[in-house]
Amino acid sequence: MAQPGLKVLGVCGSLRKASFNMAALKACAELAPSGMSLTIAELSDIPMYNQDVFDQGMPDPVKRFRAQVAAADGLLIASPEYNFSVPAPLKNAIDWGSRAPNQVFQDKPVAIFSAAVGPLGGARVQYDLRRILVQLWGHVLPRPEVFIGMAPGKFDAQGRLTDETTRKFLSDLLLGFRDWIVRMRGK
Ligand SMILES: Cc1cc2nc3c(=O)[nH]c(=O)nc-3n(C[C@H](O)[C@H](O)[C@H](O)COP(=O)(O)O)c2cc1C
Repeated sequence: MAQPGLKVLGVCGSLRKASFNMAALKACAELAPSGMSLTIAELSDIPMYNQDVFDQGMPDPVKRFRAQVAAADGLLIASPEYNFSVPAPLKNAIDWGSRAPNQVFQDKPVAIFSAAVGPLGGARVQYDLRRILVQLWGHVLPRPEVFIGMAPGKFDAQGRLTDETTRKFLSDLLLGFRDWIVRMRGK
């Protein structure tokens, strides 16, 4: 049985206001099963990784992001695919979080989904994210996978996810993620 009070941090790979990925992440806050709550991280003020800056002391937005990841029971990443891979703001946040000491992805349960304008729904970004996070010892949920293709037809003008099939896919992903977090805690 799932434990109550699981805090999940949503992380969006797109910074744009009308992002489909952010809209889907917001829908996940409504669709989360009992025992799971979702808050969404801000990546827009995180500077580009620079070892010189790191050596002088991590900037406040980086400290905030790392603390949020460290405190979360799990990460839910929603991202578009940029040029067949991970968008820079998301990769940059992961790079900041990955630095020792206390790299924040160690043993962290992670679920990933993607939304894109094209028919594949950003499939390729998911496999690159898995590759990156697994080598950081993140525990990435194997299945279900959710690819939101042809995204513009699945949201209304206010950015609400209106496609019922996609809502069901995300609900199933969140249910699976809840069980995965509990299972990984037992390891
Ligand atoms: C720099 C850039 C590269 C992109 N590359 C891809 C791509 O490789 N595959 C894809 O399906 N869509 C690609 N797109 C289109 C995105 O799927 C589309 O912009 C999507 O709406 C972005 O997600 P968002 O709505 O969450 O911002 C790209 C968009 C940008 C801006």
